[in-house]
Amino acid sequence: MTSSFRSPAITGAHMDEILGGRRLRRNRKSDWSRRLVRENTLTTDDLIWPLFIVDGENVREPVPSMPGVVRLSVDEAVREAENAMRLSIPAIALFPNTDPDLRDASGTEALNDQNLVCRACRAIRAEGYNVGLITDVALDPYTSHGHDGIMDGEKILNDETVEQLCRQALIQADAGADVIAPSDMMDGRVGALRQALDSNGFRDQQILAYSAKYASGFYGPFRDAVGTNATLVGDKRTYQMDPANTDEALREAELDIAEGADMVMVKPGMPYLDIIRRIKDTFQVPTYAYQVSGEFAMIEAASAHGWLDGERVMMESLMAFKRAGADGILTYFAPRVAEVLARGR
Ligand code: PBG
Repeated sequence: MTSSFRSPAITGAHMDEILGGRRLRRNRKSDWSRRLVRENTLTTDDLIWPLFIVDGENVREPVPSMPGVVRLSVDEAVREAENAMRLSIPAIALFPNTDPDLRDASGTEALNDQNLVCRACRAIRAEGYNVGLITDVALDPYTSHGHDGIMDGEKILNDETVEQLCRQALIQADAGADVIAPSDMMDGRVGALRQALDSNGFRDQQILAYSAKYASGFYGPFRDAVGTNATLVGDKRTYQMDPANTDEALREAELDIAEGADMVMVKPGMPYLDIIRRIKDTFQVPTYAYQVSGEFAMIEAASAHGWLDGERVMMESLMAFKRAGADGILTYFAPRVAEVLARGR
């Protein structure tokens, strides 16, 4: 049925009267103009590339829930570090998939200075690449229960865990890590790490604090990659943040900065852009977003079905982080983004 409503003919003069000359589409009329008025930019300098390390040699083992992402043996990780440098990606972040036989209740393997992460650090350092090396401080890839801390029954012990994290960080720094990144969410860990690093002569090692890390369902594919989905008992809600909270993220960031964090991070990324914006506006410190495994997997899965234009959504998602105020993004897309940027869209 056609409606009997009538709308007036819109003439240019009529519209001029409505708009008073304010036509926002003028600036969008052509590519050069859109480029000229663009407020944010994404460059390779914004990228941090997370890599998964596994035992062996010449290993590139696909992670099923993260298409295109592989677990790398140390020699292959060295090759990817070189790739990062070639692609102008400033830094890489290392995560181990520890042999299940080496995992125990207290995460002893985290203190082995020949563990996967330390070996990878030394091997990459030895090449002299101009790439920042970020190492994750937390016990979950080393514990038989998959938690980030030491447990007493059901309880994650804060202070005992922090003591062990300090020892973990020291062997990473000694192996050549430039940036220590605590992802454990224990209280007081940043201050304790800073003291431990300084008193052992590692005053130049930066701390990138996972300040606002939420107890999120978006970490699923990562837990496949490092093998903690199989081991994790229960959930991480007693230490990671409640997704319903935002003021608490500011308190976490404030404490971490006061305790000596050089950089702060929000994680996950895209569902938490409001947190990035609030932290950046409040503290004006280098603020990073972690576009986590589940975010990556969603984009990849939809694009594999032809439901989304994967490359376009990848670039758009990263620009969204810049717009929200992030100074950089940890993303599994890093090498692909760098390639797109290099060919100059
Ligand atoms: C663990 C850690 C996690 C991630 C980084 N470090 C997962 C977790 O807390 O269980 C998640 C990264 C991702 O999902 O991409 N300390």
